[in-house]
Amino acid sequence: MNDASRTGAVEGGVEEKLMERLTNAFELARWRAARRMQGGMIGFVPTMGALHAGHLSLIEAAGRQCAHVVASIFVNPTQFGPQEDFSRYPRTLEPDCAMLAEAGCDAVYLPEVAEIYPEGFQTSVRVGSLAEDLCGRVRPGHFDGVALVVTILLNRVQPDSAFFGLKDYQQFLIVRRLVTDLALPVQVVGLPIIREADGLAMSSRNRYLTPEERVRAAALHQALLAARAARRAGEEVGRELERIARAHLEQAGLDQVEYVAVRAADSLQPITRVTDQEDPVMLLAVRLGSARLIDNMILARVD
Ligand code: PAJ
Repeated sequence: MNDASRTGAVEGGVEEKLMERLTNAFELARWRAARRMQGGMIGFVPTMGALHAGHLSLIEAAGRQCAHVVASIFVNPTQFGPQEDFSRYPRTLEPDCAMLAEAGCDAVYLPEVAEIYPEGFQTSVRVGSLAEDLCGRVRPGHFDGVALVVTILLNRVQPDSAFFGLKDYQQFLIVRRLVTDLALPVQVVGLPIIREADGLAMSSRNRYLTPEERVRAAALHQALLAARAARRAGEEVGRELERIARAHLEQAGLDQVEYVAVRAADSLQPITRVTDQEDPVMLLAVRLGSARLIDNMILARVD
């Protein structure tokens, strides 16, 4: 490994932990073999870059659980629809690498599209009913692309554990399902949503918001809190909880609501009446200006 592929000393003379940039599968395999020789678990955090504190919380959690941490940055074309933001998705490689190194990441895998999807590629990975509703309905094919790239990345990296944010709650359940169904030898870990001070869930797409939209975007979190408060006050009817959250969104001028749904937290099946036995999840998706925002919360009766 030459110096050019590492992040070295930072200004002020403080030595930052070296992070290797792995630009192809060969370098990745060599890195993995060397780490396996050293012993200890390998943790993996897949991302599409444009990193923020939400991503970094996954790196830090991986660092607490594993001796070695590798992230990937790959803007995966197969999970974007033809009218979606693939070409304008923010690409901020240098700041991303600096943030990863700072958070204690040991290596970052930066594959080209042709390495993930080489000439002649024609295999698909499709998860069933979990992937069909909610974001799967609004973004046809999206979760097929996610399932495919996550399967390929897990096979390339071969980590002991892979870390995902519950911000993308449906994605997390889908990944957990596919890892179980395909008997992939990896532990899938889900981690809490990291939020801005006003409650907006951090997202690479928040940078599409104008300052005025950014203020209104806090209503997503407030809508979830209102639904949770209603449940705590005894509301049991799924549709009523949804109505309360939707009213909050509309009051804030967020009228392009794709869905507001109360679902079983494991299966995402609709819930008509919430029972004491099971805390459901509420999931939201809203369009605001040129951004599409999602959020969710377990409507726990107690913290
Ligand atoms: P990306 O949107 O870059 O997110 C990478 C990981 O960071 C995901 O597991 C996501 O849930 C997590 N994450 C994003 N915002 C978060 C927040 N505010 N709090 C906690 N975790 C957060 O999700 C993807 O990329 C892609 O679909 C990917 C899995 C990499 C496949 O291409």
